Amino acid sequence: MTASPRPSVPFVDLRPQNQVIDEQAVSAFAEICDSGAFVLGPHVRRFEEEYAAFAGVDHCVGVGNGTDALVLAMRGAGIGAGDEVIVPANTFVATAEAVAIVGADLVLADCDEDFLIDPADVASRVTGRTRAVVGVDLYGQVAPFERLREAVGDDVLLLEDAAQSQGASRNGRPAGSFGVAAGTSFYPGKNLGAYGDAGAVTTGSAELADRVRALRNHGGIAKYEHLDVGTNSRLDSVQAAVLSLKLERLKGWNAERDEAAQRYATLLADLPGVVLPRVLPGNQHVWHLYVARVTDRDRVLSELLEAGVGAGIHYPAPVHLWPAFSWLGHGAGSFPVAEALAKEIISLPMFPGITTEQQEIVADTLRSVVRR
Ligand SMILES: Cc1ncc(COP(=O)(O)O)c(C=O)c1O
Repeated sequence: MTASPRPSVPFVDLRPQNQVIDEQAVSAFAEICDSGAFVLGPHVRRFEEEYAAFAGVDHCVGVGNGTDALVLAMRGAGIGAGDEVIVPANTFVATAEAVAIVGADLVLADCDEDFLIDPADVASRVTGRTRAVVGVDLYGQVAPFERLREAVGDDVLLLEDAAQSQGASRNGRPAGSFGVAAGTSFYPGKNLGAYGDAGAVTTGSAELADRVRALRNHGGIAKYEHLDVGTNSRLDSVQAAVLSLKLERLKGWNAERDEAAQRYATLLADLPGVVLPRVLPGNQHVWHLYVARVTDRDRVLSELLEAGVGAGIHYPAPVHLWPAFSWLGHGAGSFPVAEALAKEIISLPMFPGITTEQQEIVADTLRSVVRR
């Protein structure tokens, strides 16, 4: 008799989250259809207030997606042509795109062995034109903003890319509250995910929030009042209603991710050729992604996938090695830490509701694959 095959484990499963809010979501959708307030409106205002409180800031402006949130945060802070903006080389491409979209000059910096932007490398890239540095809370861990401040001095703006860190904190301060403004993404797979694209700018500055509010809506607060060249990046009511329902449960879901991360740490301890992610002092990690380093990564990844274990790479290349950014003129070897990590990183299944059994399957499969 042949042994029955192990069940497969998905990389992410959003169904447990969606099932919990299902009934309430359906009645919110019915109410929105009835009211006709599909874009902006009371559900959006309510979510903006709730999310501002959650992120520990006075203002939240809901926008169409996380990329727009970064673009509008930069435009709201007055960043544009002639300014240099420093961004980590190892990030989702959107962080770099935002700089290019606002017309500023993109300057990349290397990261450290814990995947976060390296303040010492940032310091070496500051010039008289440096206007801002973007700390990315990669994988769910807040970037070292106090060290970035020391590295760049008082005249350079700090911005936060908080797309992967809803609910995280550093030294007790919530993600989304660092720097002059933060941009976050509520793409469905994020820790706080909508039922489509959505994002937000969070800030302590009323002035910056007002500018973003105008920019997201064709450059004016009132209808047919176009004071600036804006865009259309409004949050819609359906997404806001889903986000409000999910926000109530986010702490619990992040706690489940944290438990799962601790379970991986136990299950995968002392596995040769595998380096597990670290939580940095002062940080509350929310494990948007559980990213380990493995030798012979491409083989390990393909054998995991073949065995039915969902795994991924975030991200296969640093920004400067994508064709889209070849014009920066940085060849291979320009950002050695980011480049080395891109060859070793592997993201393991991580989502609220992942079971002990599923994690054991991942760990057993990884154990057998790395030993081969
Ligand atoms: C670090 C980071 N920045 C920005 C974004 C862009 O967000 P969106 O996809 O909502 O535009 C993402 C989303 O994947 C991200 O992970």
